[in-house]
Amino acid sequence: MKGIVAFDSMYGNTKNVAEAMADEIRAQGHEVALVNIGQTLKFDDDGDFILIGSPTRMKQMTFRTKRFIKKVRKKYVGKPGAAFETTLRVPTDPVARQKASKWIDNAAGEKIKAMAEEGGIRMFGEVLRAEVVDTYGPLMPNTLDRSREFVRRFLDSLQVEGREG
Ligand SMILES: Cc1cc2nc3c(=O)[nH]c(=O)nc-3n(C[C@H](O)[C@H](O)[C@H](O)COP(=O)(O)O)c2cc1C
Repeated sequence: MKGIVAFDSMYGNTKNVAEAMADEIRAQGHEVALVNIGQTLKFDDDGDFILIGSPTRMKQMTFRTKRFIKKVRKKYVGKPGAAFETTLRVPTDPVARQKASKWIDNAAGEKIKAMAEEGGIRMFGEVLRAEVVDTYGPLMPNTLDRSREFVRRFLDSLQVEGREG
C-alpha cells in the first residue's frame, strides 16, 4: 500500500511527528509520501490511506489544513485515514488542567477527524495527540515513539479490516 502523511507546521514540531510516522509506515513495508501542506500547492496525494495532522491554534486546525482536507477528501471517499495534532502539554496540576482544558480538549485532531469523516474518509477511531512542552516546542519526551506506535495500531486496523472484508 501507499500512504500519504500530510501535515502543517509552524515551528517544526508537527513536522517531526509526521516524519516519524512516515518512517514507521516505510518500516512496515509500505510506500509513503510526506506532504508539507504549508509549502506546496501541488502535491502527491495519490495514496491508499491518508494521515492528516496540524498544530492546534485557538482550538482549531490551521486554515491551510482545512483547505487541504477540502481539496483531497473526494479522492479518499471510502479509504482509511487518521488524524493527529500537536497541542500544549496537559498540566498535571488538576486546577491548571481544568483551566487549560478549554484550549486542549476537542482540539485540531478531533476537528480534522470530523471534517474528514464528513467527507467520507473512513477515519481511525483514535486521534494522536502529540504534546509540546511550550508553544515553540520541543515535543514531550517519548512523543515520537508514541507516534510510531499509533501508526502501527492504525496499520493493524487495516489488516483486520482486510481479513474481515
Ligand atoms: C497563535 C497560537 C495559538 C495557539 N492555540 C493553541 C490552542 O488553542 N491549544 C493548544 O493546545 N495549543 C495552542 N497553541 C500551541 C500550538 O499548539 C503549538 O505552538 C504547536 O503545537 C507547535 O507545533 P508546530 O511546531 O508544528 O507549529 C497555539 C500557538 C499559537 C502560536
